[in-house]
Amino acid sequence: TATASAQAMREALIVVSNRLPFVLKPNEEGQLVRKLSAGGLVTAVAPVVARCNGLWVGWPGIFLEPGQEEPTIPESEDTHATSFANLLSNQIVPVFMEKVQFDQFYNGCCNGTFWPLFHSMPDRAIFFADHWKAYLEMNQLFAMKAIEAVERLMQKEKDILPLVWVHDYHLTLAAAIIRKLATEKGIRIKLGFFLHIPFPPWDIFRLLPWANQVLEGLLGCDMVGFHIEDYCLNFLDCCQRQFDYKVDKKMFMVDHDDRRISVRPLPIGIPFDKFAQMAEEAPRVVKESRQKIILGVDRLDYTKGLVHRLRAYEHLLTKHSKYIEQVIFLQIAVPSRTDVKEYQDLKEEMDQLVGKINGQFSTANWSPIRYIYGSISQAELAAFYRDAAVCVVTPLRDGMNLVAKEFVACQIEEPGVLILSPFAGAGEMMHEALIVNPYEVDSAAETIHRALSMSLDERQVRMTHLRKREKMNDVNAWTVGFLKAMDSSMLGETVPV
Ligand code: G6P
Repeated sequence: TATASAQAMREALIVVSNRLPFVLKPNEEGQLVRKLSAGGLVTAVAPVVARCNGLWVGWPGIFLEPGQEEPTIPESEDTHATSFANLLSNQIVPVFMEKVQFDQFYNGCCNGTFWPLFHSMPDRAIFFADHWKAYLEMNQLFAMKAIEAVERLMQKEKDILPLVWVHDYHLTLAAAIIRKLATEKGIRIKLGFFLHIPFPPWDIFRLLPWANQVLEGLLGCDMVGFHIEDYCLNFLDCCQRQFDYKVDKKMFMVDHDDRRISVRPLPIGIPFDKFAQMAEEAPRVVKESRQKIILGVDRLDYTKGLVHRLRAYEHLLTKHSKYIEQVIFLQIAVPSRTDVKEYQDLKEEMDQLVGKINGQFSTANWSPIRYIYGSISQAELAAFYRDAAVCVVTPLRDGMNLVAKEFVACQIEEPGVLILSPFAGAGEMMHEALIVNPYEVDSAAETIHRALSMSLDERQVRMTHLRKREKMNDVNAWTVGFLKAMDSSMLGETVPV
């Protein structure tokens, strides 16, 4: 049968994501070199692309001047054999954009419209037709590049079954366009999509003037993956209520265009062993061991609940003055999307609030908050995670949140306590964390107090369970899960387990 012969074909993975596994930066001589991104996605997926001789389609992080010729992608300077994102330049399909396109597509539509809306914060969302037009054009461009990638692989190996895996909210329209182009060319492919952020309920989703196109775009796939069941149900509900499509909320299926699309919860994990290893090796970075560290690590983003978190800490110091000079709140805020106004406003607000709280509670030898606005190295991060007594992960809304997972992976010494928001995907499964509603500032303060005074026994029991679960469900398990849900024959052969 057709299916049986397709099963026998060798599959090759083509990943399509807004960012490539690296960005290009000019070095001192002005030559472009790669700077690797250290995300979990890259760690897990790049080796699969490498092993099956696949391709990665994405933006290399630089702009072209109008009319400028596309630069060639340099090979990696990092010749370390185990380096995870060392895809050869012939495994990369770059998608270049001009600054204007970037402004309207990435700053405007992706981060001005999709990001706040999908995080159920519609008041922060902006809706402009020219942003949407750029979004559509960029999705068309990514789709065209993906088809070029497919054809390139098929030139080398005729009997190949391309498995195209599209990622995240930047590219919700791409799958349907890829399917259309492939059909026109008579190419058979498998198409999957994974959304790394929440999928909102219908009463929020329908605020998007282009809601129909987005659903049609995603339904271009054979399989659509979300982190948790709630997001799957929201998506199914949207398909039903927006279009009246036949959906099965038990089997997680949508029927559309004579095809059956499956919808799957696939919670992403982290490279657990890699973090644990880094924690083993990292030198101690915070010297004042006398003071307990309360740690926060986030991109500076309004979804992360940073202002609420600082208010909770202020509350703690007011109500429990015994913590004065006994604890330090170390907040790392990684600059993000700095062209977008909402992010600039948040930076201002944080600067002021940190100043206010430090001014109010500091003594001659101590300040309550140590605030780092910048990126830190992976080794330093692992050390912070390892040495913290409490890690506060209290987003107002978050697709999954990997900080919660990285923290537990690095807790290899005396265990600390994880405080987690129920509004992060991670809150669905990390039950042994102390769960707190970040909007409820006084309750969050009491939860920090509870964490700081928790017995060693209780901390040990909780942390042991948390670590065990994250080690089992690491990012490799997630990649395997996605490929399994795609009914892929690449399993076993090419996936590192
Ligand atoms: C979230 C998104 C990713 C994105 C990351 C960093 O995790 O799901 O797609 O890459 O944020 O944001 P940035 O805008 O810098 O890519």
